[in-house]
Amino acid sequence: VAIIMDGNGRWAARRHLPRVEGHRAGIDAVRDAVETSARMGIRVLTLYAFSMENWKRPRAEVSTLMTLLKRYLRLELDTLLRNGIRFRVIGRPDALAPDVRDELARAVERTSGNTGMQFNIALNYGGRAEIVDAARRLIESGVAAADVDERRLADCLYTAGQPDPDLLIRTSGEMRISNFLLWQIAYAEIWVTDTLWPDFRC
Ligand code: IPE
Ligand code: IPE
Ligand code: MG
Repeated sequence: VAIIMDGNGRWAARRHLPRVEGHRAGIDAVRDAVETSARMGIRVLTLYAFSMENWKRPRAEVSTLMTLLKRYLRLELDTLLRNGIRFRVIGRPDALAPDVRDELARAVERTSGNTGMQFNIALNYGGRAEIVDAARRLIESGVAAADVDERRLADCLYTAGQPDPDLLIRTSGEMRISNFLLWQIAYAEIWVTDTLWPDFRC
């Protein structure tokens, strides 16, 4: 299952609150989605948390999102461990601040031995960039052009070794993919709900 978590800003606007309050409220929905998915036996959950395009947002909003991410990881690590969840990051982490990268690396490391649900968080993620990165890796591997096929390319994606999502969910009603998992969703069912992300409960 893959989820485009959208609508935090609208949730806040409806309450005459600043946008960051929507992001804060969205964390509870993240917690619920992760824990419920693990309990339901979902094999892989991928959440779109920050796109490459999201850097264009006001600096204060970006920095709040990063702070919330760090806090989430610090507070939830025990829950991830208790539920046997394996945590991974997909995207280009190099552009993230060192303190965020450290927190992410710690969670990845601590959960690396878990064999339960795979929880991917997409950060500084772009679907086209992922395919570009895969093409670079393929070329660097020295594979002959004639030997390039779908399987070899998929093995160079950030999600190498994981099954493609069967279901893509987007909250807040927008009928858009927003550069998410372009390769992997080739056959995914798409479900768009009008529910705003902070109100989304499993
Ligand atoms: C999604 O909510 C959260 C992130 C992109 C991180 P938005 O912030 O996009 O909320 P809307 O679309 O403005 O309502
Ligand atoms: C999609 O939401 C990206 C994430 C959920 C991280 P956006 O709100 O950023 O997407 P657009 O701008 O509406 O396409
Ligand atoms: Mg949005």
